[in-house]
Amino acid sequence: MGSAQSRRITPGANPTKRKNATKKNATKKNATKKARPRNPATQGTPVAPAKIIQGDCLDHLSRLAKHADRFDLVYVDPPFNTGFAHSARKKRGARAQGETAYDDSWGGLNNFLDMLRPRVTAMRTVMSDVGSLWLHLDHRAIHDTKIILDDVFGAAHFRGEIIWVPGNGSRRRSGPGVTHQTILIYSKTLEMIWNGDDPALREPFAATSLRTHFRKKDEDGRQYRDRTINGKTYRYYADEGRRLGSVWSDCPAMNANTPLSDETTGYPTQKPEALLERIILASSLVGSRVLDPMCGSGTTIAVAARLGRPAVGMDRSATACRIARKRIR
Ligand SMILES: C[S@@+](CC[C@H](N)C(=O)[O-])C[C@H]1O[C@@H](n2cnc3c(N)ncnc32)[C@H](O)[C@@H]1O
Repeated sequence: MGSAQSRRITPGANPTKRKNATKKNATKKNATKKARPRNPATQGTPVAPAKIIQGDCLDHLSRLAKHADRFDLVYVDPPFNTGFAHSARKKRGARAQGETAYDDSWGGLNNFLDMLRPRVTAMRTVMSDVGSLWLHLDHRAIHDTKIILDDVFGAAHFRGEIIWVPGNGSRRRSGPGVTHQTILIYSKTLEMIWNGDDPALREPFAATSLRTHFRKKDEDGRQYRDRTINGKTYRYYADEGRRLGSVWSDCPAMNANTPLSDETTGYPTQKPEALLERIILASSLVGSRVLDPMCGSGTTIAVAARLGRPAVGMDRSATACRIARKRIR
């Protein structure tokens, strides 16, 4: 994916420690391990500005299209066409029976798609030439939406899809279980920012592979293997891990939805910060403008700002905007 060579990043050896580590653990590990270098192009330190605008994103996007500023990354997690209204929790720990956060009944799939088409078209207009759209849905509407996106973006601009395994799907007795959601990725042109070597897009090698293949050690004691492909030899280090595939099961939804978690806002269908962090690190740079036109509780906006990307969130739900504004403050 991604031919934007000039934008490609050479990562540091490994990611910095993620913020979830407890202070105690961090101190202990820091004492024994050297700090891992950050990737300065993808992991910025200063918090970037963020703003939340209430209203139908179609109206706001049409206004934004008149300005020159464009977005390098658009992530959108629309309603899923579930057929019912979603309620927020009144407070952390309460049951999700508070005010209606947003209605997700459209009177059928065709109406849902009629709502979506002009909005994704408007999203494309405000994207930069190296920008990408990540659109998140589930089995109810993802296949029909792909046909719309192929039409709006051109099938050649379909760059891949992520199968996200939230860890909480239904395992039905009466039919096949539904334990994943899908994120489609489209670019505006044939270029897109893709930080394929970023540590956020790596995972540890399987234990068997480490045992079988990584038998050698270099002068620093790092385990590696050399592979010769078409006459050229490549060296792979065990501690750098391998590139991630398209199935992501390590960003559990629970982090966003259980009352015990710090990031839970009580907004229904909130997505976990770890998922957005990976998407943002994959396909934007420090300083890239990030947009979430149906931002709900503001997960994308909060994470983008933290990673040094100026971010704009839109939502037509007053409840969403109140929660998202509080969150980015
Ligand atoms: C699945 S939720 C987004 C959840 C969000 N990703 C989060 O982490 O909290 C979908 C959101 O789309 C919003 N929405 C639906 N139609 C919209 C429209 N036309 N313009 C703006 N927001 C819209 C809903 O109000 C709802 O908050």
